[in-house]
Amino acid sequence: MEKARVFSGIQPTGNIHLGNYLGAVKNWVESQDSYENIFCVVNSHAITLPQNPKILKEKTYDLCAMLLACGIDPKKSTLFIQSQIQEHTSLAWLLTCITPMGDLSRMTQFKDKSQKNPKSIFAGLFNYPNLMSADILLYKSHFVPVGEDQKQHIELARDTAIRFNRDFGETFVVPEPLIMKEGARIMGLDDPTKKMSKSSSDKPNHAISLIDTPDEIVKKIKKATTDSEGVIAFDKERAGVFNLLTIYQCFCKQDEVSIEAEFSTQGYGVLKERVAEAIIEGLRPIREAYSKLILEQDYLHKILDKGAQSAQKIATTTYAEAKAKMGLI
Ligand code: TYM
Repeated sequence: MEKARVFSGIQPTGNIHLGNYLGAVKNWVESQDSYENIFCVVNSHAITLPQNPKILKEKTYDLCAMLLACGIDPKKSTLFIQSQIQEHTSLAWLLTCITPMGDLSRMTQFKDKSQKNPKSIFAGLFNYPNLMSADILLYKSHFVPVGEDQKQHIELARDTAIRFNRDFGETFVVPEPLIMKEGARIMGLDDPTKKMSKSSSDKPNHAISLIDTPDEIVKKIKKATTDSEGVIAFDKERAGVFNLLTIYQCFCKQDEVSIEAEFSTQGYGVLKERVAEAIIEGLRPIREAYSKLILEQDYLHKILDKGAQSAQKIATTTYAEAKAKMGLI
């Protein structure tokens, strides 16, 4: 029986952090045997906000190396760079022409990002969800494993697929989000009411990067915001402690009851020590693999070339089909 196809993407902006890993990449790695997998470093999405071209290029390759270090296996998964397959932007245009402005203006990520950068709100940022829909629909993907923040974009991609199929004939698979129960929304360590995000790099204790040293991890966890209650429980109302327990749970894979029992007689000091240890041990193999892979640029380019070739085959066929259905010559 053919396996269902999974597609997901990650932007090469800032440093990949614990939220990206626990909310998305770890799940990509762990479910590689169950699906036909296509993973993409979405550099064309990155330019919806101003970027330094030299740094963007470097970060794109660095992120590809990091995904391999996390355990993306090129024998099981296709890994490629978005800008190498032109059909992403071509299909995005077709989809832009059938997406109501009202739907795009409801996107919370557009509202957040435009508020953070009020001086540089470009049309690309507004149209970003159509590029994301194109990424997903181009590969006729069944499932899209993401963190909770991307759910709204995937719902839009579903609406777009349904609209296209209705108006031009059955073409696209209507995709479904795959969102894990634990880790789908890792919060900032400094402010656990806000999602951990790459764009908060100006706040040194906000996020743990996958290349942080053990010392840096200990320091950041020690400074993580908690509360004055002193009780260690999975209580969503107490966002700081809940976030630390969630991070711990993602690494140790025990259920909530046994984790609460483990800490029932402990204080926040012990909790923070164990959370830091779990992160350090969980990320150790990744950091070690990354430091080797980053030196093997030829190997990296070979994998990305192969990934782009196999992605191209599917992209060419789907785009030609969609274009013809819309009557474009
Ligand atoms: P990006 O690059 O912001 O994030 C990559 C993945 O990490 C997840 N994520 C989180 N999960 C849990 N807690 C957090 N604090 C956290 N922050 C980020 C995101 O949900 C995502 O799964 N638009 C996408 C990239 C994209 C894409 C696609 C994804 C472009 N085309 C097609 C899926 C399919 C984005 O900016 O992700």
